[in-house]
Amino acid sequence: MVDAPRPRRFASGRAELPSQQIFQRDWQIYRKFIDNNYLFHREAYACLHRALTQHEPGRPFSFLDVACGDAGASVEALRGTAIAHYEGIDLSRAALDIADHTLPALGCPFVLNEGDFAELLPLRSEPVDVVWIGLSLHHLRTAEKRRVMRAVRSIVGEGGQILIYENTSPDGEGREGWLERWQAQRPFWTAFDAAEWDVIWDHVSAADYPETVSGWRALAQEAGFEQMRELFVAPSDLFRLYAFD
Ligand SMILES: C[S@@+](CC[C@H](N)C(=O)[O-])C[C@H]1O[C@@H](n2cnc3c(N)ncnc32)[C@H](O)[C@@H]1O
Repeated sequence: MVDAPRPRRFASGRAELPSQQIFQRDWQIYRKFIDNNYLFHREAYACLHRALTQHEPGRPFSFLDVACGDAGASVEALRGTAIAHYEGIDLSRAALDIADHTLPALGCPFVLNEGDFAELLPLRSEPVDVVWIGLSLHHLRTAEKRRVMRAVRSIVGEGGQILIYENTSPDGEGREGWLERWQAQRPFWTAFDAAEWDVIWDHVSAADYPETVSGWRALAQEAGFEQMRELFVAPSDLFRLYAFD
């Protein structure tokens, strides 16, 4: 049984920022990253699937997909798991419209909230079993990331899971170094024409703020987690997947 999609609230001015343009207006450009596996979605979401099936196998769980986008990769990761309820949050109306059509495949109730997770999560008290953040926490600066991670810590109960797949630098690398390594991928990402690359570069250079491995660990500790486990490193070494316990 599937909940009828609920009307969505428009909760933030952040959607108007130029750095959101690629997700609001040009979702098909981001889709090319996924379809060509340039960001290693296949491996990262396979890793998420393993984490969800190995943790208390068979026990039904609720899942909060923070910055869910069109939810396509999440639906694949959730197939064959004990998902009992899905909730997605995103600022992009274009992406949520696609998610509305993709999520019924899960066969469980779902709800989509149009809004800014940095505003919505600290206000939330309803608990959830698993929180997943895929390629979106890096849009926030360090202090805001800490605030969101604290909020997430407080809504996931004991025995719950929090997993993130995010822009990460090896220790010692700064943001400029990470951006240089991102730009070095350009010759391999042949699916984009020059105009699309301009949109991508405008977005990434304005909106992407990686953390180092130690930086993520410090954020996790400050947010109240005891442990950070590294479950996947993208072959480009631009992104890493972490579980916080
Ligand atoms: C790079 S995409 C990631 C989508 C999906 N999670 C994935 O793994 O492919 C980033 C997504 O984050 C959303 N986003 C960015 N900042 C946000 C915010 N503050 N609140 C809600 N959504 C946000 C964008 O609209 C976009 O859908």
